[in-house]
Amino acid sequence: MKISSSVLAGAVALGAAADAKCAQQQMRNIVYFDQYHTAILPPREVTTGITHVVMAFANSSLFAAPAGNGSKGYEPFMDVSKVRAMFDNGTQVGVAIGGWGDTAGFSEGAKTETSRKNYAKNVATMATKFGFDFIDCDWEYPGGNGADYKQIPNSQKVDEITTFPLLLQEIKTAIQPRGLSIAVPAKAGDMIAYTAEHASAIFGAVDMVNVMSYDIINRRDNATAHHTDVVGSLRAVDAYLALGCPAAKVNLGLAFYAKYFQTAKGVDCSGGPVGCPILPAENATDGSDLGTSGAITFELANVSPPPPPSNLTTSKDSSCGKGTFNTCSGLADAGCCSQYGFCGATPAHCGAGCQAGFGTCTGPQIGASFVSALKESKTDEVLGGQWWWDASNELFWTLDTVPLIQRKFKDIVAARGLGGVFAWSLGEDSYDWSHLKVMTAGVKGLSKKTSSKK
Ligand SMILES: *[C@@H]1O[C@H](CO)[C@@H](O)[C@H](O)[C@H]1NC(C)=O
Ligand SMILES: *[C@@H]1O[C@H](CO)[C@@H](O)[C@H](O)[C@H]1NC(C)=O
Ligand SMILES: *[C@@H]1O[C@H](CO)[C@@H](O)[C@H](O)[C@H]1NC(C)=O
Ligand SMILES: *[C@@H]1O[C@H](CO)[C@@H](O)[C@H](O)[C@H]1NC(C)=O
Repeated sequence: MKISSSVLAGAVALGAAADAKCAQQQMRNIVYFDQYHTAILPPREVTTGITHVVMAFANSSLFAAPAGNGSKGYEPFMDVSKVRAMFDNGTQVGVAIGGWGDTAGFSEGAKTETSRKNYAKNVATMATKFGFDFIDCDWEYPGGNGADYKQIPNSQKVDEITTFPLLLQEIKTAIQPRGLSIAVPAKAGDMIAYTAEHASAIFGAVDMVNVMSYDIINRRDNATAHHTDVVGSLRAVDAYLALGCPAAKVNLGLAFYAKYFQTAKGVDCSGGPVGCPILPAENATDGSDLGTSGAITFELANVSPPPPPSNLTTSKDSSCGKGTFNTCSGLADAGCCSQYGFCGATPAHCGAGCQAGFGTCTGPQIGASFVSALKESKTDEVLGGQWWWDASNELFWTLDTVPLIQRKFKDIVAARGLGGVFAWSLGEDSYDWSHLKVMTAGVKGLSKKTSSKK
């Protein structure tokens, strides 16, 4: 087989750990680089030591067309050569297909032997066209419980439990020697397709398993909990190890964002991080978001928000907020500025996310509360999670910290002999890159230990 040296390097880096006899060469230090967080790019010194970059996302439907037609529609959000230039020479650059809310193309592509072969061929064509070193499948989730679970019940996705590993095998065959990774859920209830029966087919087809050990509490829950604590992350990793996934294929997921949940009216949640009732966060009928929970990234604009400009004028076109000089103050029936920058008076405008500097707000002050959470939050040493309850806004916060990431390296990555770590996502840490830096340092520390053992 004739393969280019850069692809070979990738295949070796991905595959080395799979060989149990082979001492691990280099621990993986992976970042997702998503198209929504590109405003501030990391300086070159903080990307040093990143081994893999995953550009996100390519729409899963692009590859479900008959072979030959599937890859036309995909265009990377940034030129791949520009992406490579942001990282070490030799850093593997891949692309993630799918993501939250995008299951249709996978469902379509997985159905039959013909559709799987076509899908795989289209993915391979795209990988070749743009020179990607590996492909990441973010099917959230095969077998159900995705964003569309109220529209397409899990009972209509039972076949996917069988066809998912077959699709992965076809993709792996079509793209080799390029690597294949999958992003897998942390909540046991979402692991519908990760069954004892199919585990070896799934884990045999892929080189890396990215355990999304975050969002462990989500909008379908009823009570507070940590979203990415040490104990919960370890539990998620152990679930895949128990299914027989080799530890060397597993990457531990880290979240460069905090999550918040509005707690039940009048209930004191100051007593602890777990089990306090939250407001319904998802519409029980159609599964849509009720706006009572969300995520705030560790971006500069969130951690250290600039004050609103002082020379605001009343909006004439209903635009408002960050990036404008328009306020909704003075508009009789539209005095609130929504998180998306529009004046109005509905709960979506005045409730959670409402921009207080640009009009009136009636809901919790998420932005200001987040800044307070970064200062006031405390560590649950038992579960290994950072949390805070903002009494005045009745908001529960759950997030990760530099010391807790360090603890994850010791208690999870080292303890279980994992192949690496990954972060969602690079651009979300732009305040000071501190989470990325501690991740890179953790990988470096463990790589040294591994190589000095030899
Ligand atoms: C993906 O493409 C399909 C088909 O064109 C489209 O309906 C869907 O909205 C797209 N999904 C996303 C997340 O862009
Ligand atoms: C490919 O797409 C074109 C237009 O989008 C369509 O006319 C053609 O039938 C497709 N080819 C196959 C093999 O489906
Ligand atoms: C990257 O490394 C390869 C192989 O060592 C070398 O040939 C190439 O010139 C390097 N490229 C840059 C931009 O340093
Ligand atoms: C939340 O409460 C609803 C209604 O009581 C229930 O159907 C659902 O299963 C609960 N969700 C969780 C995660 O406990």
